[in-house]
Amino acid sequence: MIETDVLIIGSGIGGLSTAIKIAEARPDLSITVLTKTIEGESNTRYAQGGVAAVWDAEVDSYTKHKEDTLDAGDGLCDEKIVDIVVSEGPDRVRDIIDWGARFDKKKDTIEYDLAREGGHSEKRILHYKDLTGWEMQRAVMAKTDELPNITIYEHYFAIDLITQHHLGHSVTRLRQDIQCYGTYALNKKNNVIETILARVTVVATGGAGQVYRATTNPVIASGDGISMAYRAKGWTENMEFVQFHPTSLYHPGGDNPVFLVSEAVRGFGGILKSKEGEEFMHKYDPRKSLAPRDIVARAIDNEMKVRGEDCMYLDCRHLNHEDFVAHFPTIYDKCKSIGIDPMKDMIPVAPACHYMCGGIKVDDLGQTTIQRMYAVGECTSTGLHGANRLASNSLLEAMVFAHRIAADILPKVDAWTIQKGIPDWNAGGTTDPKEMVLITQSIKELKEIMSSYVGIVRSNVRLKRALDRLELLYHETEEIYNTTTISPQLCELRNLITIAYLITRSARLRKESRGLHFTTDYPERTPFVQTNVI
Ligand code: FAD
Ligand code: SIN
Repeated sequence: MIETDVLIIGSGIGGLSTAIKIAEARPDLSITVLTKTIEGESNTRYAQGGVAAVWDAEVDSYTKHKEDTLDAGDGLCDEKIVDIVVSEGPDRVRDIIDWGARFDKKKDTIEYDLAREGGHSEKRILHYKDLTGWEMQRAVMAKTDELPNITIYEHYFAIDLITQHHLGHSVTRLRQDIQCYGTYALNKKNNVIETILARVTVVATGGAGQVYRATTNPVIASGDGISMAYRAKGWTENMEFVQFHPTSLYHPGGDNPVFLVSEAVRGFGGILKSKEGEEFMHKYDPRKSLAPRDIVARAIDNEMKVRGEDCMYLDCRHLNHEDFVAHFPTIYDKCKSIGIDPMKDMIPVAPACHYMCGGIKVDDLGQTTIQRMYAVGECTSTGLHGANRLASNSLLEAMVFAHRIAADILPKVDAWTIQKGIPDWNAGGTTDPKEMVLITQSIKELKEIMSSYVGIVRSNVRLKRALDRLELLYHETEEIYNTTTISPQLCELRNLITIAYLITRSARLRKESRGLHFTTDYPERTPFVQTNVI
């Protein structure tokens, strides 16, 4: 058993920023960070485009950033949260710069080289080549290393949050006094399930892209935190708003994850075209290739279907070779490695699942509907993104909320105590799994169901079919879960089924098309605004 003052589950930008903020303010507190593989593996690490923040006050303003965020969010953003993130964002970017993160500057100047992405009316994206996430992850890890009161436990897989339920009390979603006491976590090095108790728990487990066949998210992104919170009877919301990035590199062969071709490439002048070299985005939006993501992804999906093609193309051949390579070295190298020279060939692209706009419902301080439990980053629904996230607002949101969570926890933490009497994990009556293939096959099936029926374009019939198939998978998986020993693969399957259920159920409840949710049965937006809380 581990006892700690603050437990943080997840070591991406959300988790580590929260840890740093608390650790710096209170060196006497013990902060324990669990991460299910290595500390550096996260969605954060793969972020390419950058972090959006109002930086050049001469041309940009909070009002403009706010309007762009609201416009992308298609009527569902919480304006108060947008104000908070946009206005506090620049200070949080300054924090990570102070912790050592580097962002590209204009040649021979000290001015940051701000980029533009879809849906942004100004250049406001700070970036480090096309490796911004890698650099930010490096910086927060280095800062964490300097703080002796933070302990990182790698290869610890959080299985379930501990609440009154584990003390034998009935816990329902309507109860307002559910408390989180910590988590049960599988120590993957010795296969022992350990009880980790804390005064306060912060869930920072990232996204859930692995619920679809083609995703830019690494394999860690299986929605564990959202599923754990749902099982613990916390509230989730807006799960129907799954963001598909318009331009993942199309490379048949089933790479998991698929490689992203950053939106910043379009911001830099790359133009979407058909195989024949025709532009098509003007048919969908006056902003053409730089329209918000939901519009571009749907346009590409539609063109692929109408033309019977597997991909569309990004034309960069007119761009300056040297500048392109300097800005996008990773994208350039990746294309070259599969025989595509972006300076001579158009880059084949197709949409792929990229970001979860919904998640664990939190308030403006990151507090979930469960007491002593906060959540930060992609696993949350803060109200910032509404029905569609504006590009590069995610890293920003995680940093802003990490700061706010720390500020809320610090004056309260001493009053919370470690809960006594929590039983050890009960593994009685289970045996080792004999047929791992059942789990891997079910994961494949799940991805097929979600990609075929709950993708960019939905309909009542498709959603019903998905729910019917999911129910079967759910029952089969619960039977395995109740009779075999726990493995990370089994837990991930179980969590992904929960995520698939939440997405599909929320999609069924939304009888309109809005932002990232498009259904052929209700192609218009309704005049009223409804948030799907489950
Ligand atoms: P993550 O960084 O994903 O961290 C989650 C952590 O939780 C990981 O350490 C993981 O191991 C751990 N974890 C998960 N489950 C468990 C468990 N059960 N037990 C223990 N640990 C667990 N956003 C932008 O703003 N700008 C961009 O340019 C940008 N580009 C992107 C490019 C790509 C390819 C991808 C995939 C995403 C991009 N995003 C971008 C989105 C952004 O990177 C993420 O939303 C953000 O990094 C999420 O941070 P996080 O801390 O919430 O989660
Ligand atoms: C990208 O670089 O296109 C990703 C940006 C984001 O997801 O915010």
